[in-house]
Amino acid sequence: MFKKLVITVLFFSLILNSEAQENGMQEDKQISLMPWPEKVEVKASGFKIGNDFSIYIHGDVSETSRIYKAAVRFIRNATDKTGVFVAEGFPNTDNITSESASLNIHFDQEAKVEQGIDESYKLSVGSDGIEIHAVTDIGAMHGLSSLLQLIEVQGGHYEFKGVEIQDSPRFVWRGLMMDVSRHFMPVEVVKRNLDAMALVKLNVFHWHLSDDQGFRIETKTLPELYEKASDGLYYTQEEIRDIVRYADDRGIRVIPELDVPGHGTAFLTAFPEFGSKEGMTYSVERNSGIFDPTLDPTNEKVYEFLDILFKEVTALFPDVYFHIGGDENAGRHWDENPKIQQFMKENNLKDNHELQTYFNIKLQKILEKYGKSLMGWEEIMTENMPKTALIHSWRGVNEGMQPGESLVKAVKNGYQTILSNGYYIDLMLSVEEHYVVDPMPAVELTKEQSDRILGGEATMWAELVTPLTVDSRIWPRTAAIAERFWSPQEVRDLESMHNRLEVVNQYLELIGIRNQQVQAYLLRNISNYQDTHALRQLVNISEPFEIYSRNDGGTQYQTYSPFTLFADACTADAKDKRRFNKLVTKYIEIQDAASKEKLVSMLERYASIEGSLESIASDAPLVGRVLPYAKRVSNIATLTGKGLEEGMLSASDLEGLKTLLGQKEDPAINLDVELALSEDFQRLAEFLAK
Ligand code: ACM
Repeated sequence: MFKKLVITVLFFSLILNSEAQENGMQEDKQISLMPWPEKVEVKASGFKIGNDFSIYIHGDVSETSRIYKAAVRFIRNATDKTGVFVAEGFPNTDNITSESASLNIHFDQEAKVEQGIDESYKLSVGSDGIEIHAVTDIGAMHGLSSLLQLIEVQGGHYEFKGVEIQDSPRFVWRGLMMDVSRHFMPVEVVKRNLDAMALVKLNVFHWHLSDDQGFRIETKTLPELYEKASDGLYYTQEEIRDIVRYADDRGIRVIPELDVPGHGTAFLTAFPEFGSKEGMTYSVERNSGIFDPTLDPTNEKVYEFLDILFKEVTALFPDVYFHIGGDENAGRHWDENPKIQQFMKENNLKDNHELQTYFNIKLQKILEKYGKSLMGWEEIMTENMPKTALIHSWRGVNEGMQPGESLVKAVKNGYQTILSNGYYIDLMLSVEEHYVVDPMPAVELTKEQSDRILGGEATMWAELVTPLTVDSRIWPRTAAIAERFWSPQEVRDLESMHNRLEVVNQYLELIGIRNQQVQAYLLRNISNYQDTHALRQLVNISEPFEIYSRNDGGTQYQTYSPFTLFADACTADAKDKRRFNKLVTKYIEIQDAASKEKLVSMLERYASIEGSLESIASDAPLVGRVLPYAKRVSNIATLTGKGLEEGMLSASDLEGLKTLLGQKEDPAINLDVELALSEDFQRLAEFLAK
């Protein structure tokens, strides 16, 4: 029995290995594509990008066709990347024939952007030409996204890497949620993030449009909502339509969310009479957290109000799904209201869950009238919730749940579901922690049950991000999450992911994502336009506090606080962290001179940070706030460097280092970062002290 098991395990690991190889995961293949395709074969020669590069799209295309516009963007991106002056800046000009074109695009039909369309494509790149074949125009556009990422330098010129790719997505729902309530995100911010989504083949934009901190859409029928609860920061209906069109042009569905009955402060700021606490007035929330203001599900007028609102809002969004939120309603105002308690008794509603289900079912009927299906966060999954509801699984260990618990419960109970637990990018966790999470849980499910798992969504909650910093919080980590949603399950090599992520980050910048630009700007601002060299060294080894510890109690930062601080310039994956980790590991293993030399050079740089910052601090108050931390970091680097050069560390130096590593900054200065290399410093110090 035991032997058989061993053989079976061996057999499967062999299959997995050979599959990984077929999928071309070996480093030597050097393709930086993300998400990784279903099947890829690398060829000896690629297609040289010269000024004769041209595109011919087969079929009945006009300048307003989705694929035509995508091809124009492709040419702009490719020429911007390579500096090549092409003679033909547009596809299908009179000068271009199928025979003369460098790239021929074939597809069978223009798709309607909706769930479950065919997104597959084939891409063939060789020295004599490039072909994209797809069933739909959206599949063909995925082919263009892949092709763009295949630009590389060969023999001193740019070319598209030679490949045969056959590709299709693993999941139909590959989403990014943007919260525009906590911090409003202007149209151009949303648009450039839609461009980035298209680059990495994400296809659902979930737009969290209302919460305690603001209601963000113009409503003609209920203007009080945006007049009283948006601080003047909202999308006009024309802007909403523009964004929906922009997304559609990129094959991306748009799912609006109006969060009810909880997270309702903005609603109730405009319409206090629909609240659950009698005589209460409300004002837009400035802090973060879970608040009590909740719509009153026992008030028929609330449904009339929501009917009017949903009728108007659903008309703006063509997708069949409408997200009603439904999360984090503790129902405290329900408990405190005798009329609501009486209503529950009369209607035989045992608890707040049943009352919320009563509410949800009424909402579902309203949405049905307008041709919409209801989706909501997992709290909506109560006993009597109709099976047509789509369950958005999000809770995990922080909320006292097992990750994916509600996902499994949903599919076993007959609901379709998507996963966001594991993809909360606002937690500021390393990309690796998200990348290893799979929407398909490691439990036994029937085919029918697993088919109900549609995919997942990364969630960009916006308590601590602004239009300035949001790109750097979403990207590049979400590219790795996009790979999890698109690529075969066995594509999970971390080294390969990191290497390709670095390259996809360059393409993200090419198409307009500003994560790297903004970091440079933030450091200039912090230095008050002095030398930023030392700040850059420090940013490269520091990470913002994780898992909401940055915003203690939700009141450390208000929506109007500055988010241009040192912590905002730091990212979830400090740039030097992997390099330092590898060098320390290798040095501990073999004590080679090369690793030692590189480590000494890094430590010398870190040791000099304090002095450099001190020299600019008197003219830069924001640098003054960073100084105590910089001093600690430089002391850690100096002590460790000394130990490394001498080949040993005294017991007292080790203790000194441990003390320094364990210290925390004064919370009053809101530095909110930690040294990302701490564990490796400790490992190295302990080794040197032996
Ligand atoms: C949520 O994070 N409250 C859905």
